[in-house]
Amino acid sequence: MGSNIMVLGSGGREHALAWKIAQSKHCESLFVAPGNPGTASFATNIALAVNDFNAIAEFILDNNISLLVVGPEDPLVNGIKDYLLEIEGLEKLKIVGPGKDGAQLEGSKDFSKQFMLKHGVPTAFSETFTKETIEEGLKYLAEQNGPFVLKADGLAAGKGVIITDNLQEAQKNLKEMLLESRFGAASDRVLIEQYLDGIELSVFVLTDGENYVILPEAKDYKRIGEQDSGPNTGGMGAISPVHFAQGDFLKKVEKQVVKPTIAGLKKDGIDYRGFIFIGLMNIKGDPFVIEYNVRMGDPETEAVIPRIESDLVELLEACASRNLAGKTIQITKKTAATVVMVAGGYPNEYEKGNVISGLGEHDKGIIFQAGTKSVGGDIVTNGGRVLAVTSFGGNLQEALKNSYDRMEGIQWKDVYFRKDIGQDLLNYKN
Ligand code: AMP
Ligand code: GLY
Repeated sequence: MGSNIMVLGSGGREHALAWKIAQSKHCESLFVAPGNPGTASFATNIALAVNDFNAIAEFILDNNISLLVVGPEDPLVNGIKDYLLEIEGLEKLKIVGPGKDGAQLEGSKDFSKQFMLKHGVPTAFSETFTKETIEEGLKYLAEQNGPFVLKADGLAAGKGVIITDNLQEAQKNLKEMLLESRFGAASDRVLIEQYLDGIELSVFVLTDGENYVILPEAKDYKRIGEQDSGPNTGGMGAISPVHFAQGDFLKKVEKQVVKPTIAGLKKDGIDYRGFIFIGLMNIKGDPFVIEYNVRMGDPETEAVIPRIESDLVELLEACASRNLAGKTIQITKKTAATVVMVAGGYPNEYEKGNVISGLGEHDKGIIFQAGTKSVGGDIVTNGGRVLAVTSFGGNLQEALKNSYDRMEGIQWKDVYFRKDIGQDLLNYKN
């Protein structure tokens, strides 16, 4: 008999996780809360909000769920794990995702910076300022050379980082963050960080607090416009593997970043069982940590998870029950290319409710749904990032061609996507 499993979340990341979980021989029944029309095609969607801990607990008890996979950071930072484990009957629930203590790695950039310094994880130098020390902060900025990097301490839905070459603009932003609560309480503390000039990479680790497996790495495309122009988005595409990050570089990441991170958590008494997403800058072959996230990335998950050949449920259960020792992970050598299709206007204002056509069966590509909804017999747009299309190829070029070919048949009013996903990697020379 397999397990009853629940995935929390509704985006492309959760569609990809659930899609892989559903293929496991250990999966008896799969629930996704709240899920999307994509997950409804192979799992049972449950209309529960990810922060409604009480209703989630009841559902888990009523349906004999033994494994819970938390997709987004919000419920983790809000303490879903601590809450559920205190409920009678849920003491043994296996949860993939850290408790409130470990979730601070993402919930507070100041906490994670102190953690890195304490445990010798390479990162950018930074200073933290508050309302009380704003004058020092303004002066500190004036003493630095640009570009200036300002970071709200708390969760700000991916918008809390400001990078500018202009000192006056940096100072204006610092004032808005500290004095006018530009990001609410998240910007009560602001980090001013050294600018790291390099190529970015996302590395994913699944740990049980002691042991770990490293998942495939990925590169994410954050800006809305081609050649990385325009405002930041949740992510417009992802590629895995990243060829500049093979061999020596990944070994350095494991030795200098992954090992001290996991040892540091243990040393600090944090029982961390879940994913750690490490955002890195590769500076002339050396890794520097930009940030930790306590969950998988989106859209990186849509490129990373399909490359895993091992049974994901075995790994997740081992993670949550502290049994990862000796576990290995099989990964296909094929390249996965994910391109995100968004609503026109995103990340600013955009329409919802436009009918999507062309989602039917196809020999190329896997379509992961994100901002979609079922209305009558149609699937309509219901968010900024609407779909993530992933294809494999023997090399990057082939994977990209397959994804873009698949996307040709998919349409809705004002659909937009970047046509240059992966181009920088094709042109990159080591
Ligand atoms: P974060 O919200 O921490 O992921 O930051 C958003 C993006 O800002 C990152 O993905 C990087 O592209 C960029 N970034 C953050 N910190 C730095 C830094 N110290 N130097 C250069 N770029 C940075
Ligand atoms: N793709 C970046 C993130 O998930 O935060």
